[in-house]
Amino acid sequence: MVLNLLKKDLETLSCSTLVVFSKAAPTKDKGTARVTLPDLNKILSESFEDKSITGSKLESVFFRGKAFLDFKNILVIGLGSESLTHEDVRQVSAQAYEGLKAAGVKEAALHFDGFGGGKKHNAEFARAVSEGLTLASYIFDDLKSKKADKKDELTVHVVTENADASLKNAFNDGLTLAQCVNFSRNLGDTPGNLMTPTILAERTQEAAKGTGVKVTVWDKARIKKEKMGGLLGVSLGSDQEPRFIIMEYKGAAASKKPVVFVGKGLTFDSGGISIKPSAGMEEMKYDMCGGANVIGAVLAMARLKLKVNVVGLIPSTENMPGPSANKPGDIMAARNGKTFEVNNTDAEGRLILSDALSYASELEPQAIFDAATLTGAMVVALGNIHTGYYTRNFNLSKRVQDAANASGEWVWPMPLTDHHVKDIRGTFADFSNISSSKGAGSATAAAFLEQFVGEGIPWAHFDIAGTGWAAGNRLNYCPKKGASGAILRTFVELARSFA
Ligand code: BES
Ligand code: ZN
Ligand code: ZN
Repeated sequence: MVLNLLKKDLETLSCSTLVVFSKAAPTKDKGTARVTLPDLNKILSESFEDKSITGSKLESVFFRGKAFLDFKNILVIGLGSESLTHEDVRQVSAQAYEGLKAAGVKEAALHFDGFGGGKKHNAEFARAVSEGLTLASYIFDDLKSKKADKKDELTVHVVTENADASLKNAFNDGLTLAQCVNFSRNLGDTPGNLMTPTILAERTQEAAKGTGVKVTVWDKARIKKEKMGGLLGVSLGSDQEPRFIIMEYKGAAASKKPVVFVGKGLTFDSGGISIKPSAGMEEMKYDMCGGANVIGAVLAMARLKLKVNVVGLIPSTENMPGPSANKPGDIMAARNGKTFEVNNTDAEGRLILSDALSYASELEPQAIFDAATLTGAMVVALGNIHTGYYTRNFNLSKRVQDAANASGEWVWPMPLTDHHVKDIRGTFADFSNISSSKGAGSATAAAFLEQFVGEGIPWAHFDIAGTGWAAGNRLNYCPKKGASGAILRTFVELARSFA
């Protein structure tokens, strides 16, 4: 999709299709819907009367050959009857994209002023419109022999009469952010044979060029030398070498402590010796989505020029049952010296994160945030609607909620207590990588991670196992089956909150 912002009067524009918005009548039995472009109400009056346009939220009605001004077709998208939030605008814009694609439109003008954002909301709505359209336009056809035809590409002009500097900047910021989300989704959707730890590191280096982000990659020998026993241990069952990816962005004075983002970069999780059942195992190519989304988030922070120092850390490996794989009962030590029993080789995410969190703590950061497709228990608890997060720091929790509200993502606070820590005590080592109790599997995983975060460092863990992919059944700007980019936008807002 080609997207641009046009400061123009609709009357002076000529392209095939106009996208306008309809508002539902305030109550069901009183009055009819209306479009937010008054000149069109008369032309569409019959459709209001016969209820083919009701204005309900995300309703999409395409009129082919309904001439208005210099437009041939009209696409009417419903806004509902309540006042709009930026998340509504994001979803409505995604719906517009779908409607235009379904009708085979090549060029359209979207009546931005119809959102009625006014001085108060115009900038956030401009950001949401470019995010919604760009996120909805994501497809993964890199590996199909027949790719989407370039000549069928859709151009959308977002048309407004009020394109001041703040609106323009917000529009461009939304575009940048959504491009970074789409980049992360592409990493996530790429299958395990083409997304090894080595390739993930190379793609990061390549994407960071020109952004001001410095990328350092540690190989297996260096990982061993750095005493990253968890990451090294998990990698032993695979032919593929592990990588530890370090991204640094300096947007503030050198004296300012960084905010660190850590992401699980497990490029394929077979379970190892505690092997997973084969049904659905192909989905475990998505086990690097925490890492992919941290990579995209740090790139976005740099491209948006946030005034904050940021470090992104991505421990990356495969989890395979090769001849040297770690075995149930094996004991290893993480970088901070704490030891653990690997009682289930499928609980590997926490092992590779232990080293990354220890390393993060050595940087004496202002805060650490991690994202991981960590537990099936998280999917059971919250499904694919909310990303559950864990922190014992009240102020940080408030910051997380505010960041999620600003980004439009949904998060939910989960409990982390000393009881959960008790459940992961080891018999022959300090800790066990699985809980001795039943239930709360996502909380006990968080309790395990907590052991590797330096005392007093504000830390929050996000388990994106439910939201990392296949979120499109409920969120129209996410792919139905593919990677979603979950928590990336919230991480960018979190970084912004430290600027
Ligand atoms: N990557 C999985 C978690 C996962 C499962 C994410 C399903 C998304 C969907 C993780 O490494 C894992 O296998 N965790 C185990 C832990 C258990 C053995 C304590 C799990 O959740 O079953
Ligand atoms: Zn696993
Ligand atoms: Zn895993």
